[in-house]
Amino acid sequence: MEDKKLSIGMVGCGQIMPSTAKGIMASQHCVIDAVMDIDEEVAKEKSETYGVPYYTDLWKFLERESMDAVYIAVPHALHVPIGIEAARAGKHVIVEKPMATAVEDAKMLVKECKEAGVKLTQAMGMRYAATSALTHDLIKAGAIGDFTSYLVRSIGMKDAKYWSNGVFGEAKRSCWRAYKGMAGGGILVMNAVHNLDALYYMTGATPTEVMAMGGNYSSRSALEDSMTMLVRFKENNAYGVCQAMSAAHGASHTDNSTFIYGTKGTIRFAGKNIELFTTVEGLGYETNKWITIEPEKRSDSRTMLVDGFAEAIWADKDPFITGEQGVMITEMMLGAYRSMETNAPYIMKENNI
Ligand SMILES: NC(=O)c1ccc[n+]([C@@H]2O[C@H](COP(=O)([O-])OP(=O)(O)OC[C@H]3O[C@@H](n4cnc5c(N)ncnc54)[C@H](O)[C@@H]3O)[C@@H](O)[C@H]2O)c1
Repeated sequence: MEDKKLSIGMVGCGQIMPSTAKGIMASQHCVIDAVMDIDEEVAKEKSETYGVPYYTDLWKFLERESMDAVYIAVPHALHVPIGIEAARAGKHVIVEKPMATAVEDAKMLVKECKEAGVKLTQAMGMRYAATSALTHDLIKAGAIGDFTSYLVRSIGMKDAKYWSNGVFGEAKRSCWRAYKGMAGGGILVMNAVHNLDALYYMTGATPTEVMAMGGNYSSRSALEDSMTMLVRFKENNAYGVCQAMSAAHGASHTDNSTFIYGTKGTIRFAGKNIELFTTVEGLGYETNKWITIEPEKRSDSRTMLVDGFAEAIWADKDPFITGEQGVMITEMMLGAYRSMETNAPYIMKENNI
């Protein structure tokens, strides 16, 4: 393994940035190079916290020769424009979710990163979860037979402070989360994006068509706070149902539950452990009864993200989460919004990953 470290510049010093900074500091292969934010107060504060220089000018920041990669955590509509500037400056790109607020933008980011010869990945925490890894392995080993359907719920209650001060209600006041032009969407692009990405990894199934219903029922935003999405997959004519809410009384910030069905078994989880019902002999699991399996403990998802990205760069291989996968997930979500507007199914176009 390389002696050198991957030096990561961080753009956007808001609510989520400290979680990623913590992940970088705990990593084997990465260090923080510098921070950048248009708000000098927060940039300076983070510069002091992490002992690195700060910038308020993106282009001056990108001129830093010591910087190998950038991590982008800004309002959603800015992910692609800043990602492209970083790629053009020769920096590898880690972008927060959702990748983009338009499919064409997501495709352009992928294309520009390819042309610049830099790698692109996304910060999708659930993809790195121990439950996702174990479910992926069980499905691959044939424990549920052929995937037939899923039922996934991402149900939460976001209070008024969320819209102005972010996921922990503690970020400096901002005003982008509640508007389509800045955020691109509501609960789907904010939270259920993680479920869709993890499900793609766990099932390996390629979406061909999406349908959705939903709306805004009570939150302080112009975006959907409740929606249910149906997805059709190429493999086995399988389908999935994803229900997402951010205004469910009695729910915590996000309650997730996942059921994945196959021709020979079922996997379900809502917490740390997996429950498996399999009819398949010879895999080492008791058959025809529910069993609980504790996944192997893993490091923090953001540490895995940056260490894995460094390894992919040095080995010149695809990162665990690719740009093409980001385009596909973006199209699924924007297709769901299109379906809500037209009351018709949306047929996927970019699913040839
Ligand atoms: N993966 C996760 O679990 C997770 C959790 C929370 C947030 N996020 C994502 O992280 C991103 C940021 O969210 P947040 O909650 O930290 O938002 P935030 O509003 O707290 O912070 C955003 C920061 O971006 C800065 N900014 C705005 N325009 C900029 C520009 N042109 N150049 C540089 N900086 C600019 C703002 O000044 C602010 O400090 C979003 O994409 C969000 O969806 C991901």
